Amino acid sequence: MCGIIGVTGGRAVTDVLLQGLERLEYRGYDSAGVVVQTGTELWRARAARGTSSLAELRRIVDGAPRPSAAGIGHTRWATHGHPTEANAHPHLDCSGRVAVVHNGIIENYRELAAKLAAGGHVFSSDTDTEVFAHLLEDELTGGASLAEAVRATLRDIRGAFAVAVVWAGEPGTLVAARRVSPLIVGVSDGEGSEDGPEAYVASDIPAILGRTRTLFAIDDDQVVELRPGVMRVRTLAGKAIEVPQLSVDYDLEAAEKGGFADFMSKEMHEQPRAVGDTLLGRLQGDGTLLLDELRIGPDELRQVERVLVVACGSSYHAGLVAKHAVEHWARLGCEVDIASEFRYRDPVLDERTLVIGVSQSGETIDTLQALREARQWGAKVLVVANVVDSSMAREADGVLYTHAGPEIGVAATKTHLAQIAALEVLALYLAQLRGGLSPADARLLLADLAGLPDLVQQALDRDADVARVAERFADVRDFFFLGRHVGLPVALEGALKLKEIAYVRAEGYPAGELKHGPIALIEPGTVVIAVATRTPVWEKMMANVAEVRSRGATVVLLANDGHDETAEQADEVLWVPETHPLFAPVVDVVPLQQFAYHVGRGRGLDVDRPRNLAKTVTVE
Ligand code: F6R
Repeated sequence: MCGIIGVTGGRAVTDVLLQGLERLEYRGYDSAGVVVQTGTELWRARAARGTSSLAELRRIVDGAPRPSAAGIGHTRWATHGHPTEANAHPHLDCSGRVAVVHNGIIENYRELAAKLAAGGHVFSSDTDTEVFAHLLEDELTGGASLAEAVRATLRDIRGAFAVAVVWAGEPGTLVAARRVSPLIVGVSDGEGSEDGPEAYVASDIPAILGRTRTLFAIDDDQVVELRPGVMRVRTLAGKAIEVPQLSVDYDLEAAEKGGFADFMSKEMHEQPRAVGDTLLGRLQGDGTLLLDELRIGPDELRQVERVLVVACGSSYHAGLVAKHAVEHWARLGCEVDIASEFRYRDPVLDERTLVIGVSQSGETIDTLQALREARQWGAKVLVVANVVDSSMAREADGVLYTHAGPEIGVAATKTHLAQIAALEVLALYLAQLRGGLSPADARLLLADLAGLPDLVQQALDRDADVARVAERFADVRDFFFLGRHVGLPVALEGALKLKEIAYVRAEGYPAGELKHGPIALIEPGTVVIAVATRTPVWEKMMANVAEVRSRGATVVLLANDGHDETAEQADEVLWVPETHPLFAPVVDVVPLQQFAYHVGRGRGLDVDRPRNLAKTVTVE
């Protein structure tokens, strides 16, 4: 977790840092801080005020303007040490001349800290990161350059990191490196800008996209040395290497709120376009699917005997929908695993297993490590990701991008819908390759798929109805979300959204499983939200609804337009347009997102930045 940024050159070092941190805030906001080089000294400012950390940091920095050659900044999601100012980055060595920002976890920091303390170093935080500053101090005292010191230090460090460092002894030099955690480098030659040449590092592209489009992704155990307009990359052993330039497919404006009250509502309203763009160019008029960018060829995919999906959170729920689609259309066995669990058992995989990683960010450490594990077992790895050139996308055998654009709100909305759309396409593609889909059937299904953006828009247009239902239940502190078949992942996603956006306890459950225990919790007044749209098990779902109603539950049903039989069993109805049952999750999730949004807003919460969460989870 955490976001890092660094810049060297130009006339506005602190502005670049603060603006970058604002764009990285989705990665954590427990505290924030910057260090800048002024003359031959470092100046540090930090703030630990939860969601207002960055505003406070800006106040401090603006109150003490100073010309700077280079600087680094950090926005923190606490792992080691409380979210206090003392634990906020950047961290300094004993002399206050070396500063470090870090995203990740240094696993052997206790051992390293003990050694450093025995050697006379004094620590001023509880973080794992601070050991890095003191290790650098030792190397620099021994006469190394900053880049040499970083390379030497990283050889002793175990764990995950993206780091950026500055040293008062080398004004204008910024050094950064990574292992596992993401790191992007940008270089600007200054042409056409009053600021002159600059160079940047950041955890993610939007943080620096406004400054340059000359971007590079740094790989594991590479160390980059930056001076204004100049980048040099070396391995830990000191060997110079070239890194390829990245292709960037979104612009900065798309990352701004565009007139909406918050990113979450903006991004929910972008869902028809996100789904449409994800389908674009992949559905052919003749009923065939075109996935020519996949990197895994048709022959290889025909060899696949089994599919395994690994993912976390909302991406895991998209995976649960994919299971239905892959099994139904491609007739391949498909299991879905929570990525953080997958790695720590003995999965049975071989070269005929297709492992699909689903990840908006392409950086979630649990999923990334699960996919690495899968490759070691010889499985083919395909990633469904939203962020182009993200770590997973680069490392996998193949990639299928969702084209949802950047998502800034911490809760997944448009990327979740785009993931389901992409996975449906993939399932149909596998079916097509395996000869399991007649051209006539395919044409009908593709027409349904192509109609999804319009249906998502229709669902969004009922926002006022959902807001009214949300208001009715604004004070309820416990919800059950029930679903069966593809309605189950929808129910799970609805419950997750309510938990994270509105801080309301919500249990997502398979409706048929309720009678095996949890029905004991149903009593008069319990609110149950059930996905009762027309899946092949609608009748069974309604029998489960009757079970909770007869025990006094207040029932909100998600029902297909005009389906009065469903509505008759409900205290409140959330209407959604109907589509093919296996595509229905793309539409049905929408009112549940809106419900969570309105309950959260009604409670005065910051729906874009829920407490304790981060957009990209790069710790296990
Ligand atoms: C929920 C949410 C998270 C993510 C999860 C995986 O709204 O956003 O549950 O879905 O952290 O993230 P990615 O998809 O980036 O791997």
